[in-house]
Amino acid sequence: MQIEPIQMTQTTAFGATVSGVDLNRLRDDEWAVIEAAWYEHAVLVFPNQHVEEPAHVALGERIGDLEEFVADRKSVPISNRKVDGSAVDPNSDHFQILKGNEGWHTDSTYMPLSARASILAAQVVPAEGGQTEWADMRAAYDVLDDETRDQIADLAAYHSLFYSQAKVGHNPAVGASYGLSDQDIPLRPLVKVHPITQRPALFIGRHAHGIPGLSEAESEALLERLTTFACQSPRVFAHTWEPGDVVMWDNRCVLHRARPYDYAKPRVMRHVRVAGDPVTEAGITA
Ligand code: OGA
Ligand code: MN
Repeated sequence: MQIEPIQMTQTTAFGATVSGVDLNRLRDDEWAVIEAAWYEHAVLVFPNQHVEEPAHVALGERIGDLEEFVADRKSVPISNRKVDGSAVDPNSDHFQILKGNEGWHTDSTYMPLSARASILAAQVVPAEGGQTEWADMRAAYDVLDDETRDQIADLAAYHSLFYSQAKVGHNPAVGASYGLSDQDIPLRPLVKVHPITQRPALFIGRHAHGIPGLSEAESEALLERLTTFACQSPRVFAHTWEPGDVVMWDNRCVLHRARPYDYAKPRVMRHVRVAGDPVTEAGITA
């Protein structure tokens, strides 16, 4: 197996490309190497895997319990096509979430437990656009100025899908169709210490809003400033998908977003999401 860090500059790397392993036949000793690399690099790209659904699910289960999307489904299509191949209605909740994914975020922060990991497998991709980008929130925290670091040390934000979807002009009721209530919105610190590596990282993204102790405008301005600062070179890389690629990322320390493309073209991805640990990914109380 080869693990090649992705160089942002001559001295800065973020993410790594893994080759020489078959995710459809992953051995325990190979997983041990991958897991260690994952904690170091936070995003692992596995080109040309064509992973089958059971192996995709099994990979997630090596990390922890999965989020179950509907009844006993352990993976979810992130796709602008329905199973019969027809286009998803642009007014549907699903399409609105796909569009919402184009804002920097980390997965399931609006849920009672924010996600540990996500694993995305590309099946059909458009010829142009539709990349995914990741931004390293550990590196961003490391280079914050002291004043900002002190300012945010004890701050927290509410994380809500009602808020984030409304902000981009979508139906705020979408949260309800995901079984969420607008009465029960988790509060999460702006700085998250990674439960395994103990490295601090900015914990923000599009669902974050309403910092207690700040006005709505101050809160929005601060979160905007942090996101703009954090999500730039040399902390961001884009992956241009080929069918069969798999990417696994650590939602505890990176933000990600989808890039736009011609929505008339199919883009079909399969997503497995590993639930957070109730000890470290539950919200806090105000
Ligand atoms: C996701 C997500 C981005 C993409 O699946 O959680 O944000 O590029 N996907 O599809
Ligand atoms: Mn996402």
